[in-house]
Amino acid sequence: MSHLQTSLLLLVFAAACSLCAADVGDFTPCLHFFYRSWPPKGLEGTPICQRYNNSYRFATLYSRPRRSPWFSGYLYTVPTGKRPKASWKYEPQLAYPGADGNMAPFLPQPVDLNVVESQAVELDYINSTFSRGHLNPSLHHQTHACRSATFTLTNVVPQRIGSNDGPWEILEQTVNMTLSAYCLGEAYVVTGIIPYRGKGPWIKNRVAVPEYMWSAYCCPSYNHSLPEELRDSFPTFAAVGRNDQNSTEEIVPIDKTAKKQFRGYDVRQMPLKTLEMYLKDRFNTVISVFYEQCAESN
Ligand SMILES: *[C@@H]1O[C@H](CO)[C@@H](O)[C@H](O)[C@H]1NC(C)=O
Ligand SMILES: *[C@@H]1O[C@H](CO)[C@@H](O)[C@H](O)[C@H]1NC(C)=O
Ligand SMILES: *[C@@H]1O[C@H](CO)[C@@H](O)[C@H](O)[C@H]1NC(C)=O
Ligand SMILES: *[C@@H]1O[C@H](CO)[C@@H](O)[C@H](O)[C@H]1NC(C)=O
Ligand SMILES: *[C@@H]1O[C@H](CO)[C@@H](O)[C@H](O)[C@H]1NC(C)=O
Repeated sequence: MSHLQTSLLLLVFAAACSLCAADVGDFTPCLHFFYRSWPPKGLEGTPICQRYNNSYRFATLYSRPRRSPWFSGYLYTVPTGKRPKASWKYEPQLAYPGADGNMAPFLPQPVDLNVVESQAVELDYINSTFSRGHLNPSLHHQTHACRSATFTLTNVVPQRIGSNDGPWEILEQTVNMTLSAYCLGEAYVVTGIIPYRGKGPWIKNRVAVPEYMWSAYCCPSYNHSLPEELRDSFPTFAAVGRNDQNSTEEIVPIDKTAKKQFRGYDVRQMPLKTLEMYLKDRFNTVISVFYEQCAESN
């Protein structure tokens, strides 16, 4: 074979592969959702580049055995519209590697059995005592399409209503107000979960419930005229929220004066290093959320 023929073959091969690039199994097409193109290190799972209407919207590390995500990473953009009407979606490539990489809506007819086997489906959550807790929340996005894309069950964990409608929602709103007011450039957010030490509760023996949720952001370029109460919120911020009223109080203490429906679902803000310490303790391995802890480069 001549040199030219070899080059041509390589070209054809490269072109074919860019067409069949998988959105499941590799973060390469969506590394830009992570600070310095560096996904969190230390957790093992199935990478999903979350594609909706042919554009990448965010990235998720999915756990097939738990049928729920370890974390989702996304870029915050100042929200404008309202929360869209939920049209829930799934990831076809988890069931069929050769399928279209776009997330697909659940249709009224029964769900394909390979899809049911490969991931959580709406029936898992319907009539369970858990709400669908977005890791990447609809609130943190500007466009309607980006908001709609967060309504995929691969971005969702079983979250107790007292957390989802209480302290965790307030956290999402606080992050929204802080970033929209003082972050001047990109804000990279990663939101994930901490599993129970033992087996913990599962829905229908199919979907694992997390004991805690955590969130952290990295905003390298920010307005340095910060009010006193936000001095510790830049360039990084982290928080852990309880998803079980009966958890011990070592990681997040309980405010006994909170309203009854939200009591035991507290969220505790903490430095990124403290979050990483708790993650290391629970996962038994070093976990780094941001490249060099999002250290300021200026
Ligand atoms: C959920 O529970 C309601 C009330 O018990 C029942 O009518 C409905 O059929 C249940 N739905 C599913 C999908 O199980
Ligand atoms: C999908 O993308 C096309 C082309 O950019 C656009 O015209 C259409 O409105 C989009 N649809 C949705 C549901 O976002
Ligand atoms: C999110 O931030 C924007 C910009 O500051 C603000 O207009 C909006 O009210 C905030 N939304 C929530 C629910 O906090
Ligand atoms: C930074 O914040 C101060 C105080 O809130 C404000 O006056 C100033 O305009 C902000 N600067 C930028 C570049 O946003
Ligand atoms: C916490 O424990 C109480 C008493 O044992 C129980 O009634 C309640 O359901 C538990 N809450 C959760 C979220 O497991």
